Amino acid sequence: MTDIEDVPPGVDVTVPSPARMYDYFLGGTENYEVDRKAAEVVREKMPEVEDAAWANRGFLQRSVRWLAEQGVRQFIDIGAGLPTKNNTHEAAQAVAPDARVLYADNDPLVTVHANVLLEGTSGTAFVTADFRDVEGLLGHPDTVATIDFTEPVALLAVAMTHFVPDEDDPWGLLQRYMDRLVPGSYLVLSAITGDRQADGAVGTIRTVYSKSSAGVNMRTRTEIERYFAGLEIVPPYAGAAPRLGYAGDWGADDIDAADSDGSRWSYCAVAKKTESKQTVATQTP
Ligand SMILES: C[S@@+](CC[C@H](N)C(=O)[O-])C[C@H]1O[C@@H](n2cnc3c(N)ncnc32)[C@H](O)[C@@H]1O
Repeated sequence: MTDIEDVPPGVDVTVPSPARMYDYFLGGTENYEVDRKAAEVVREKMPEVEDAAWANRGFLQRSVRWLAEQGVRQFIDIGAGLPTKNNTHEAAQAVAPDARVLYADNDPLVTVHANVLLEGTSGTAFVTADFRDVEGLLGHPDTVATIDFTEPVALLAVAMTHFVPDEDDPWGLLQRYMDRLVPGSYLVLSAITGDRQADGAVGTIRTVYSKSSAGVNMRTRTEIERYFAGLEIVPPYAGAAPRLGYAGDWGADDIDAADSDGSRWSYCAVAKKTESKQTVATQTP
């Protein structure tokens, strides 16, 4: 586990951090006592929390691989998290060595580790930025140097929008990002839901994260579907209708095996910006 003596500047070890708690759930070592204690309170009510984290992580890896196979060569990963196994650039570059990835996160510890991980890695950059600062993130010199906005981009908002409250309008913010991308671009999004979960578990998760550096907003299927308005959702697996799925299902070969309790904590989808859908979206008031 990370040594309290080596706390990097700007990192607050008195308040749990969602990035560090997620790292702990994934079995990582970039977390502190305060994160582990908060995470264990969550685990008491949600014993499948590790499965939920890995189901989400698997969605990210499978969807990035699939997008690279479709010919997408640029990725903007907002709320990238602490580096773990098979990060976005590794998943994309395994298919397309020329793929480029711009990572962004607002957690200071993510900045420290991303800079170490990405040093000397071609086609990648990391910017410390908040999702809510659309112009600052997209206009950052490292973003502009990494991403060609005349070519399609996959925008990743994986397990991140639930840290943005309704009053900051995550739907409108995502629309502003997608407006900047050309047709042929994609949105990749997963988000935690409380749908069909026990009230006790949902309440505990809300309480624990309300004492962290970012509260959690557990949204319904309809609210999460709204993120994809004006876009064309792709089928989550062979033979499925194009619709929102659970994290574990996406790209799964064996749907029954993928359908776990942990998987059902997150809805997810991959959706394409097409010429026709774009026209529909701009005509909608
Ligand atoms: C649960 S982790 C998800 C990491 C990775 N996307 C994944 O799904 O494996 C959420 C990440 O979103 C980041 N985050 C939360 N709110 C954010 C915001 N407003 N802007 C940028 N990053 C944010 C956190 O710091 C954390 O690293």
